[in-house]
Amino acid sequence: MSGSHAALLAAALQARENAHAPFSRFKVGAALETAGGRVVTGCNVENATYGLTICAERVAAFKAVSEGVRQFVRVAVVADTQDPTPPCGACRQVLWELCGDVEVILANLDGEKARYRLAYLLPHPFDARLLADK
Ligand code: THU
Repeated sequence: MSGSHAALLAAALQARENAHAPFSRFKVGAALETAGGRVVTGCNVENATYGLTICAERVAAFKAVSEGVRQFVRVAVVADTQDPTPPCGACRQVLWELCGDVEVILANLDGEKARYRLAYLLPHPFDARLLADK
């Protein structure tokens, strides 16, 4: 899939429909836009152990990398909350490492609510640079 900014939000909204969230009932959809204009989506997939649950953002990032995508420009996240739902700490770390300083677009069911750079959401990250001279 490829297309505009509105299409990215629409893709995240649609991915949210696939969320497997029987425990929290909190459905999240994510859509990553690649440098080539492709869109890779994800939804949260919960597990009865709770701890094995994976967020929508990480599903999208891991799907993209597994398909050979390595360059990204933005990610949209959609949840049904009045205040927009930002990526959790674990997802910020994974997005930083796999996707770089992408634009993060947060939306609820009414549309876009906020926009940040990932570097703003994850200041002073731990990343591969710090492992480089070991
Ligand atoms: N969740 C996400 O998928 N992304 C977020 O940005 C926040 C939280 C999921 C994890 C869990 O399935 C549910 O939302 C409640 O935490």
